[in-house]
Amino acid sequence: MAGRRLLVGVQMIFAMSFLLFHRSCPAPASPTLPAGSLCIPLERDVLLDFKAGLTDPGNVLSSWRGADCCQWTGVVCSNRTTGGHVVTLQISGLYDSQAVGGEIRSSLLTLRHLKMLDLSLNDFGGQPIPEFIGALRSLTHLDLSYSDFSGQIPPHLGNLSNLLNLQLSNMADLYSPDLAWLSRLKKLQVLGMSEVDLSTAVDWVHALNMLPDLINVDLDSCGLRNSTIASPVHSNLTSLETLDLSFNPFNTSIGANNFILALTSLEELSLLSCGIHGPVHDALGNLTSLRKLSLQENLFVGKVPSTFKKLEKLQVFELSNNFISMDVIELLHLLPPDELLKLRFDNNKLTGSLPAWIGQFSSLTIIKLNHNELSGEIPIGIRELTNLRDLWLNSNNLHGTINEDHFTNLTTLQVLLISDNSLTVKDRFLKKLACLLH
Ligand SMILES: *[C@@H]1O[C@H](CO)[C@@H](O)[C@H](O)[C@H]1NC(C)=O
Ligand SMILES: *[C@@H]1O[C@H](CO)[C@@H](O)[C@H](O)[C@H]1NC(C)=O
Ligand SMILES: *[C@@H]1O[C@H](CO)[C@@H](O)[C@H](O)[C@H]1NC(C)=O
Ligand SMILES: *[C@@H]1O[C@H](CO)[C@@H](O)[C@H](O)[C@H]1NC(C)=O
Ligand SMILES: *[C@@H]1O[C@H](CO)[C@@H](O)[C@H](O)[C@H]1NC(C)=O
Ligand SMILES: *[C@@H]1O[C@H](CO)[C@@H](O)[C@H](O)[C@H]1NC(C)=O
Ligand SMILES: *[C@@H]1O[C@H](CO)[C@@H](O)[C@H](O)[C@H]1NC(C)=O
Repeated sequence: MAGRRLLVGVQMIFAMSFLLFHRSCPAPASPTLPAGSLCIPLERDVLLDFKAGLTDPGNVLSSWRGADCCQWTGVVCSNRTTGGHVVTLQISGLYDSQAVGGEIRSSLLTLRHLKMLDLSLNDFGGQPIPEFIGALRSLTHLDLSYSDFSGQIPPHLGNLSNLLNLQLSNMADLYSPDLAWLSRLKKLQVLGMSEVDLSTAVDWVHALNMLPDLINVDLDSCGLRNSTIASPVHSNLTSLETLDLSFNPFNTSIGANNFILALTSLEELSLLSCGIHGPVHDALGNLTSLRKLSLQENLFVGKVPSTFKKLEKLQVFELSNNFISMDVIELLHLLPPDELLKLRFDNNKLTGSLPAWIGQFSSLTIIKLNHNELSGEIPIGIRELTNLRDLWLNSNNLHGTINEDHFTNLTTLQVLLISDNSLTVKDRFLKKLACLLH
């Protein structure tokens, strides 16, 4: 028997605890008024009335007493030259025990200078978003995400013409039948509405296109169905840098009149699990600012088009779980060696052998090429990938001998999966390998 078939799989899982929620930056803890100055008495009364409407089992608002409301937790006033008004109200729960709920009283409207209202991560028990919030005309930031409001988003929010940042993400049972109200927020730069039910909002692309200042849009899991526009249409979205449309059931191919293809400033595009079929569109190669492109779990077929050679800034390229069939060398020739950090292409139909020059991709930290049809040997050039953390090559048709020269210099390697191939590994080396992957 020429060569033992050894199954080698070594995996180390490094679990890290992250905060579950992506949150906006906290407001400054102390007010900008000089010590000793007091808040405007009328505004203090409004805050006390607002507090009286709320339930506060965690005593989050225990500091809300005494004369100077500008010193209260979550309250920020403008400085004396600009009137000393309450400009920020940030009562953002992080743990269940700290969630506030109850009634949001319309006396809040007296705070005419309020620019930022953040009630995220609280528990308002499924009540609707109050319509009167649309009358807080000075608001530039409104964050109600993760706070359990439900029902229809009041179109009154479209009156907030100064809004720069709107966050309504992650509330079960919140919906909007159309987005005409959104198209009136002319200054909007950041929009987060993931998980809001927009399945009947056929005007969503049109509504976004009315907001030329948009930089950052997150509409994942919204039930969106159609991302094509009646062509020819002029794209207003010349500032858009990040777009997340993952988990929407588009269930179609990307055609020439898809609005995404005109977003020339895009730096990050996520289209995970959108049921997209057909080829990867040539014109995606025109989005030359792309740093991150995530297209996993779709039904893409054929090759990555040669126009991708133009994506010289691409750092993260993810196409796992599709039906891409091409030679891995042809793929690597399209990608920028100095930039690429993460290549996730597992569960496709890549063929051919890893090239000797793979070491040119000197920044790579993650290679996932498992579950493809790769053949040949693992080239010795892999040892030049000194930033590599994850190497997944399992379930291919690789053969040959692995020896320690491949790996001794890969000091940052944490995950190595090479099982389900026909690789020969020396026992002596295996011991060292276990030692390497400490
Ligand atoms: C008060 O705020 C205004 C506007 O933000 C700023 O221009 C000014 O420098 C501030 N004055 C003081 C004394 O901090
Ligand atoms: C605010 O918006 C609502 C619904 O879009 C509208 O009916 C109302 O007239 C507007 N209010 C003001 C004061 O403009
Ligand atoms: C572009 O945005 C402007 C301003 O919102 C709007 O008037 C115009 O209709 C938009 N163009 C298209 C094609 O949507
Ligand atoms: C998607 O929207 C475009 C433009 O509004 C329309 O022409 C097309 O028929 C729609 N496609 C589907 C499948 O609904
Ligand atoms: C889209 O495709 C998925 C599975 O591919 C299917 O479950 C879903 O019903 C489809 N949705 C639509 C709107 O066709
Ligand atoms: C992509 O760019 C090429 C020129 O590089 C141009 O001919 C083509 O029309 C563009 N495609 C789209 C869809 O904009
Ligand atoms: C590892 O790196 C060192 C220093 O760059 C070099 O001298 C050595 O030859 C390398 N060893 C292997 C096996 O590549």
